[in-house]
Amino acid sequence: MTAQPAASPQDQARAKRAAAGRAAALVGPSLAVGLGHGSTAVAVVPFLGERARRGELAGTVFVAAAHFMAQALRREGLPVVGLDDAARLDLAIDGADEIDPAGNCVKGGGGALLYEKIVAQAADRLVIVADAGKLSPRLCTRHALPVEITPFALASELRFLAAIGGRPALRLRPDGDPMRTERGNVIADCAFGPLDDPAALSAALDARAGVAGHGLFVGLADLIVVAGPDGLREIVPPGRG
Ligand code: A5P
Repeated sequence: MTAQPAASPQDQARAKRAAAGRAAALVGPSLAVGLGHGSTAVAVVPFLGERARRGELAGTVFVAAAHFMAQALRREGLPVVGLDDAARLDLAIDGADEIDPAGNCVKGGGGALLYEKIVAQAADRLVIVADAGKLSPRLCTRHALPVEITPFALASELRFLAAIGGRPALRLRPDGDPMRTERGNVIADCAFGPLDDPAALSAALDARAGVAGHGLFVGLADLIVVAGPDGLREIVPPGRG
């Protein structure tokens, strides 16, 4: 997997729509489908709406990882249920900020990382949709790692993140106050630089009680649908075939 940055924002938007359309085609009737957050995942929704209006998604329900996604689904007339209402998720579809050759991802640019990971882990299959500019030789080369922190633990977790080389920066709203997630937590964007061992970092963060979640999605993706100047590609991460 080599990075192929899209030539322009228009090309990038076209690529996202192409990947989104392909992912929507993977959804069938009588399924429970999780959807994450971000512009590429949201681009899947109109395709799903079209398919539902053609009667191709009878009995299929959707679980949204973020309020914004739930609204987008409802606007298309698609049924949204809670995670506990679905016996299981057959499939989850989500975007990513960076994707490495093993199919591991950095996510959370949109701040919905905790529920996105819950939905991804609840699903039998995770499909990542992205434009080719998201492909990266090593995670955190181009994108800081979002780490969601319980406000009570903010100072101690920022010290911890700095101590392990994360160079954390609190994500701020335009008015300068810390941005809050839908869960009321705050996010530190951590500039670790290119990661040698995403699984080890993921485990270290998982072990911290004050870390409510983080954007490393290691070993979760089953299929990556990437679109770029060369067209649409489906990548099966090693060991997931
Ligand atoms: C949302 O919290 C993120 O995980 C998104 O999936 C990620 O930031 C990708 O977003 P775009 O599809 O908008 O690039």
